[in-house]
Amino acid sequence: MINIIVACDQNKLIGKNGKLPWDIKEDWDYFLKTTQKGILIMGRHCYDEFEDHAKNRDVIALSRNSDHTFPYAHKASNLAESLKMAGDFSGKTIWICGGRGIYEEALPLADRMYLTEINAEYSGNIYFPAWEKHFRKEVFSESLQTDSVELTFRILSK
Ligand SMILES: NC(=O)c1ccc[n+]([C@@H]2O[C@H](COP(=O)([O-])OP(=O)(O)OC[C@H]3O[C@@H](n4cnc5c(N)ncnc54)[C@H](OP(=O)(O)O)[C@@H]3O)[C@@H](O)[C@H]2O)c1
Repeated sequence: MINIIVACDQNKLIGKNGKLPWDIKEDWDYFLKTTQKGILIMGRHCYDEFEDHAKNRDVIALSRNSDHTFPYAHKASNLAESLKMAGDFSGKTIWICGGRGIYEEALPLADRMYLTEINAEYSGNIYFPAWEKHFRKEVFSESLQTDSVELTFRILSK
């Protein structure tokens, strides 16, 4: 099973200068818990942000630079190679964790998308691509009001 996991604000914003545009504990806890037992695939910038957590997880990080190494992740030079490597981890769920280009390439390939909608507007520079034509069915939706914002945790399928 290949799943995309992403959190977006009302404008599909996902990133700001290499970091998340927000600091929402409930969103981050959901991400860590949901992906805990799977294989995480992510781009080099996402890995840089995630590195502390990568020590305890199965992570495949992507870079086209043949000299680049990731201390706590396996390395792949394209998405197809990372999916092939992930397939060798005996049936674990594969989680596509971004960033933008990797999400775009994975949208047609993924079985499900775990989308957290953040009911607010933030500033930033990285946006999630249009996904609506790839995931037409909602299989789960639950909202949570935090101290600062409303979150809707959605699971979508093809
Ligand atoms: N809200 C969310 O759920 C969420 C999720 C993920 C990320 N984010 C945010 O998004 C931002 C990071 O995303 P990003 O799009 O800027 O960067 P990214 O995808 O994490 O990293 C980009 C780099 O990854 C490598 N890469 C990307 N696609 C590749 C491919 N197909 N094959 C081989 N290498 C590939 C390249 O590294 P080289 O230059 O070394 O070749 C590229 O420069 C951060 O701000 C992060 O916080 C948010």
